[in-house]
Amino acid sequence: MKKTAPAPLSAWRPLNLDAFLIGVPHYPEHVDESLWARDAQRMAEAGFNVVRMGEFAWHLWEPHEGHFAFDLFDRAIDGLAKQGIRTILCTPTATPPRWLSQAHPEILRVDAAGRTASHGSRQHGDTTSDVLRAHSRRITRAMATHYAGNPNVIGWQTDNELNTTTSLSFSPSCEVAFRKWCHLRYGTIEALNAAWGGHFWATHYDHFDQVVLPYPDNPGHVSPGHRQDYHRFLAAATAAFQRDQVEILRAANPDWFLFHNLGQLEDIDFRGTFSTDLDFLGFDIYPMLYDEMRRHGGHAHSQALHLDICRGFTGNFIVPEQASGLGSQPLFSTMTPEPGEMRRMALSSVARGADGLMFFRWRPAHFGAEIYWMGLIDHDDQPRRRYAEACHFARDMAALKDALPGSSVRIDVGIAGGDFDNQEAYRTYPMGLPSPLEDATLLHRALYRRNIATGFVHPEDDLSRLKALYVPHWLIWDPRWTDALRRFTEAGGQLIVSAMTATRTRDNHILTELAPGMGLGELLGVRVEEFGRIVAPGQDGLFAPPARPAGFGPGGAPLPACSAGRPHHLRLGETTLQAGHLYEKLILAPDVTPLAHWADRWLEGAPALTARPLGRGRAHYLGTYLTEALAEALIEAVLLPAGIAPLLPDLPEGVEASERQHPGGDRLLFLLNTTDMPREVTLPQPRRDLLSGARLGPVFALEPYGAVVLSSTPPGSG
Ligand code: GAL
Repeated sequence: MKKTAPAPLSAWRPLNLDAFLIGVPHYPEHVDESLWARDAQRMAEAGFNVVRMGEFAWHLWEPHEGHFAFDLFDRAIDGLAKQGIRTILCTPTATPPRWLSQAHPEILRVDAAGRTASHGSRQHGDTTSDVLRAHSRRITRAMATHYAGNPNVIGWQTDNELNTTTSLSFSPSCEVAFRKWCHLRYGTIEALNAAWGGHFWATHYDHFDQVVLPYPDNPGHVSPGHRQDYHRFLAAATAAFQRDQVEILRAANPDWFLFHNLGQLEDIDFRGTFSTDLDFLGFDIYPMLYDEMRRHGGHAHSQALHLDICRGFTGNFIVPEQASGLGSQPLFSTMTPEPGEMRRMALSSVARGADGLMFFRWRPAHFGAEIYWMGLIDHDDQPRRRYAEACHFARDMAALKDALPGSSVRIDVGIAGGDFDNQEAYRTYPMGLPSPLEDATLLHRALYRRNIATGFVHPEDDLSRLKALYVPHWLIWDPRWTDALRRFTEAGGQLIVSAMTATRTRDNHILTELAPGMGLGELLGVRVEEFGRIVAPGQDGLFAPPARPAGFGPGGAPLPACSAGRPHHLRLGETTLQAGHLYEKLILAPDVTPLAHWADRWLEGAPALTARPLGRGRAHYLGTYLTEALAEALIEAVLLPAGIAPLLPDLPEGVEASERQHPGGDRLLFLLNTTDMPREVTLPQPRRDLLSGARLGPVFALEPYGAVVLSSTPPGSG
């Protein structure tokens, strides 16, 4: 396997490896050694080339401080290598061992209520702690030195799903580190006071040693500037924690590839040094968990959404953990993939940018907090349908081995994403409004259902590859993005900017000009003169306050509906649609055309959606938030007339399409049946399925959870 230097971050960046990684996270420390050889043989028979190991085994790598033991993993790595399976190791810092938490309790996280994390689960270590960092460097150095010359260790994962259990800490050492970070960022306490608005509620500080951590609701709300900086600090601390390990690993063996497996995406700036320090990102994908959380309507769309979000950060990625069966921890269990669905989910990941995939996990554990998290081999040591599906997927990847490398996922409609500051700015002051991602999800889902190629793209990425770009109320704006959006639109792009965009500075101060600011108002030909809250569909116009700690305020008592919550509608062509959440009263420049108007109440007749011709494209402004119906209407009114079309017309419901493209023009169209019923597909002309080798079309049947990958080369031409 060859590695090249990683290219700059882009949603279209391919992986810098020349082969598809396929295998499993494996825990030989959970398995009787008498079974190891057959495990390796079964993996080889499945067509795997890699396992990932060691992320929770610090107590085995270093049983006592300074005493290292590599035998167990050396034997496991050797045994696997005999069957041609290489190993990815992990720094084991997600589970600091008991000797460490006992000798140095100051490494433990402390929550906002002052509770110190106890030993007994995971992610109890506080990544902002200098003491933990020193131990993290020690264990990383010992492992890196030991494995530097081992040809069977080919890469590393840093830690495991950093910040997934929790990203927060309120420990004494965290407070000290936060003060240091503030000092470095601001230089003088006056600058910090100005940024956080120190004259509001006497939150002014005389010197950095007085700065406190922003405790939520204790007793009231903290300044948005203060909260935002705490999260910037956590992200910087997470990146620094990882960088310690990266420096050691790179120095030990520059040929190793390095990645991290993302989990909950909390307090990590994925377009910052956290990602540029690595070769690529990994994204753990458990689609059934999203059903469990009743989010986003269906696990097929949720999976597509999350993979698209991840690709927007850095481009193609690997999936170090892909759900294989039922998963559970003591307080929940997920839905269970049906026969054929595990392979379909894996192919969906590939269709949306995965260049490597490991099924979680090889075997389920017989003990511990995940005894029902199923793997490929069952508890009784038998390989059954999940193993058979993994074998099938390995054959699929073998069939694509020449076609896939170097390709990236086509995006026609980009959704602005991946900006850490904007995600956090919303959270500093949410007001019961949807987050940028919640708003964007409505458009993403509508595009997904229509099989229009979509994805998340940062304004600093190569916008020339898009046909349209939607900006979902990004509060914080950078004037350079205005220039990028202007170039994109003038070159023929359809730009749609939504309410509240470009209303705050990086310090979360409201701008002193009418929004949208920073040159965006001129670009769009729109100014927001007034705005107000309206009812969200199905709601009473207000929102439940977050639960408050006992003793403060009225608690979570229901609030009465009020007249301000009566719905507003807008009229788009012949359709009247209910608006959601917020209205804006717009002032238009002379060359701007209203495409939709407010349809009732005091704004009746005023513009709600506008368009301004700009070069070969059009710049639109939407003075409200999306609803499901409005997302559909926007596609009909703006995107389809601009020639944006599904990847394949008339696909039946539940068939998912995604295209991977090569710079030279070759294309791979993935069609995936996400349902348990057969689906009939009609192609404009016959095509070759790269998975089966069959010539398909013009009409063919996709079996339940079936998949095809159609080559753009006509059958018979090569
Ligand atoms: C992931 C985690 C794994 C395992 C898995 C199933 O989030 O990285 O260690 O816990 O979920 O719960």
